[in-house]
Amino acid sequence: MGQNIFPERQNGMVENAWNTSLYDQKHAFVSEYGKGLLPLLEPQSGEVILDLGCGSGHLAHMIAQSGARVTGIDSATSMIEAARATYPDIEFFVADAQNFAFPFSFDAIFSNAALHWVRDAERAVQHMAAALKLGGRLVAEFGGKGNVATITMAVEQSLWELAHVRADFGWYFPSIGTYASLLEQHGFIVRSAALFDRPTLLSEGDAGLRNWIAMFGERVFTGIAPELKQQVLKRAEELTRTQLFKGGHWFADYKRLRIVAYKEEQ
Ligand code: BEZ
Repeated sequence: MGQNIFPERQNGMVENAWNTSLYDQKHAFVSEYGKGLLPLLEPQSGEVILDLGCGSGHLAHMIAQSGARVTGIDSATSMIEAARATYPDIEFFVADAQNFAFPFSFDAIFSNAALHWVRDAERAVQHMAAALKLGGRLVAEFGGKGNVATITMAVEQSLWELAHVRADFGWYFPSIGTYASLLEQHGFIVRSAALFDRPTLLSEGDAGLRNWIAMFGERVFTGIAPELKQQVLKRAEELTRTQLFKGGHWFADYKRLRIVAYKEEQ
């Protein structure tokens, strides 16, 4: 069992009981794209690096190949169990980005596709600042303003039309200005920040969008009967097909916020 070494963990993160093998099979693009962030991190041998929201640990493993000492944290016990089983030489812990602490400081924090799950961004930034050495760096990429807006609007509209339910996905997609200001308020200097489109191919052809929503947006269907859920998904597909379905594949309208920031030397 994954051991939670952070007993004060609070429930502010969007909770997901991830199916890790499904995640790795059908949504491998998450860590595939995350590899593009590693050159910005430039991990060095001997550095102490935190992978925040490490999922099943593939990127933590790649960072560790540089000779850095990597620790991975994730709020999902199933992910941490999978990461420990696959990479027993790396330390992984169940921990919430809004409430973690280690008895040592990090040279760098790396985070791919995780911070949009964290509802209390300010607390997460405070904890990241506290966990870094002076001069330490944060290299992060996650969903930014407008991320998957076509999908979320279609699901919201369909859920309202067919079930009179208001969808709350619980995601946090900030603008550059919002997140950079938050970092600056908590002692970071933002060296670069970019918001860019990254249309993302979803696997499984015609079922791609349905599968993506089922994996990442399941919480909005809580209490909805299975047949009604299928109708909502079908309606959401109808609403988005012209924009997102091309050449037999669905493309999610991802917008990434990519940030490099340093903890200010005092
Ligand atoms: C993202 O990586 O942008 C994302 C993934 C799942 C749900 C929402 C956003």
